[in-house]
Amino acid sequence: MLEQFKELAAAYCPESATLSRGSTVERRLSQLRDVFGDPAAVDLLLERDDPVLYRVMAIEPADGPGDLHLGLGILYPGKVGGEYFLTKGHLHTTREAAEVYIGLAGDGVMLLEDEAGGNVRMEPLGSGKLVYVPGHTAHRTINTGSEPLTYFGVYPANAGHDYGAIAERNFTHVVIEIDGQPTLRKRKDVFPNG
Ligand code: F6R
Ligand code: ZN
Repeated sequence: MLEQFKELAAAYCPESATLSRGSTVERRLSQLRDVFGDPAAVDLLLERDDPVLYRVMAIEPADGPGDLHLGLGILYPGKVGGEYFLTKGHLHTTREAAEVYIGLAGDGVMLLEDEAGGNVRMEPLGSGKLVYVPGHTAHRTINTGSEPLTYFGVYPANAGHDYGAIAERNFTHVVIEIDGQPTLRKRKDVFPNG
């Protein structure tokens, strides 16, 4: 972990919010078509362009017991069908695995929803903000500003990512702009068919 952190610190460029080495995962709008509440609005946008919504860069840990994984996320600003650009969202495969998000730049929120869907909340994530994601909690990042939102995610290396549960039922709530403010609303009230 110490070696990995040293490598990450050396590879991290705060000006460009990138790592000069390591792996990168890139997600485009077409890959999140059904994540948004208004897929028809996504299709309309896709006729012109298939923008990258976010990237996650990481230097992989040794994966030993007790190791931590550090990922650097960059989520671009934009909207489709009234929703801000967002990440797919997931639960950890090891459900009890928690995570800390460290906001580096930009403005956004995290949507947190416990596995049963009963406890839903929105927490600010942006420059200097910290968000603690407890275990058993689905989490999604949302860029509510006009600049790229960048953050570190720190979590147990053996946490794993379960996207299937979210793909099946999505989050029960959405974050939309009301009177200029990011506002939490029940999905079915905003997208009765979504
Ligand atoms: C890792 C984590 C973040 C996300 C990143 C992209 O556990 O929560 O690094 O992986 O914000 O979001 P997803 O993985 O939902 O596409
Ligand atoms: Zn996570």
